[in-house]
Amino acid sequence: MTSSANTYRLLILPGDGIGPEVMGEVGRVAAWFRDKRHLPIELRQRHFGLASWQAYGSLMPDETWAEIEAAHAILFGAMDSLDQATKIPPGERRKGSLLRLRKSLDTFANLRPIRAIPGLLDASTLKREVVEGVDLVFVRELTGGVYFGEPRGVETLPDGRERGVNTHVYTSDEVERVARFAFDLARRRRAEGKPGRVHSVDKGNVMEAGAMWRRIVQRVHDAEYGDVELHHMLADNCAMQLIRWPKQFDVIVTDNLFGDLLSDCGAMITGSLGMLPSASLSARGSHGRRALYEPIHGSAPDIAGKGVANPLAAILSFAMCLRETLELPAEAERLERAVDVVLGDGARTADLAVRGAASLSTIAMGDAVLNALGRA
Ligand code: IPM
Ligand code: MG
Repeated sequence: MTSSANTYRLLILPGDGIGPEVMGEVGRVAAWFRDKRHLPIELRQRHFGLASWQAYGSLMPDETWAEIEAAHAILFGAMDSLDQATKIPPGERRKGSLLRLRKSLDTFANLRPIRAIPGLLDASTLKREVVEGVDLVFVRELTGGVYFGEPRGVETLPDGRERGVNTHVYTSDEVERVARFAFDLARRRRAEGKPGRVHSVDKGNVMEAGAMWRRIVQRVHDAEYGDVELHHMLADNCAMQLIRWPKQFDVIVTDNLFGDLLSDCGAMITGSLGMLPSASLSARGSHGRRALYEPIHGSAPDIAGKGVANPLAAILSFAMCLRETLELPAEAERLERAVDVVLGDGARTADLAVRGAASLSTIAMGDAVLNALGRA
């Protein structure tokens, strides 16, 4: 990664849908930390996604790719689904896909924290006593499993039937590194007064690769992390337990596909997908650690361009960047506290507002966060 010494180069890729709106607020918040807290941040921005295809004939122009290579972290907005865009050739689709981005940065560990925010307890469909105090984090394996396994595809058989195949595949080193990541995180959380407990989730009762996952996680645990509490849980049971009593969880480590499903399930604990940040991290190499920060909510085409999207998931993703890339937990907490204050004051974008009540625009919510930061 090239950059002037001690400056973190952060690349904003707003993308499609509500991406440009919410990332506009992230840009303002990041500039606040640069200017008011004197953090060594250089902000850059490039095109990506469907809008980029329409304007430049490429989902991921080479110039954007070069910027990605040179950045310490990517602040990613959202990418539209390509389903309707039939004119994009398959090669270009692969080149510009989020999955390629994850794979080429080797960001194998996807962190999805689920934290019940006191000001928002009533936004959940679950009972207050179930939700209050939830503080858990998914570590989803992000660069393997059925998302990338070969063989894959659909073929037509000689008798005219079709046959669709995807392959769930993991090698032991892939399981080991994500397990270590989860155990390290659990230790870190224990030092902060949290349980520091790991649930490893698989379907080892049906899948050989799942039984292997379980065996390897246990082996890593016994060899290196005997001090960390470890439980194994079947994925279907985990889905149920997340709704029944989410407070039993601290760190949940699981594969790519189960992590995708279970994190959406966990998201509903907080009541809005508009609140959830994520970080995708690589191993630490000589160049530091590659990182991709993105809100979980996606492009939300139904509300795009209206200025009503909730920017808090994107803003909280930037807080994760302060913690994981800049390694400034106190600054991350400053931002997370500001978000808590704003919500505690009753500020609501439309997704969080009680039906019929007045709600803030995307920009007004950004203003409220900047205001709270200024007062802290
Ligand atoms: C997510 C999303 C993605 C995934 C899609 C958009 C490919 O659902 O990040 O959870 O399945 O990983
Ligand atoms: Mg998903």
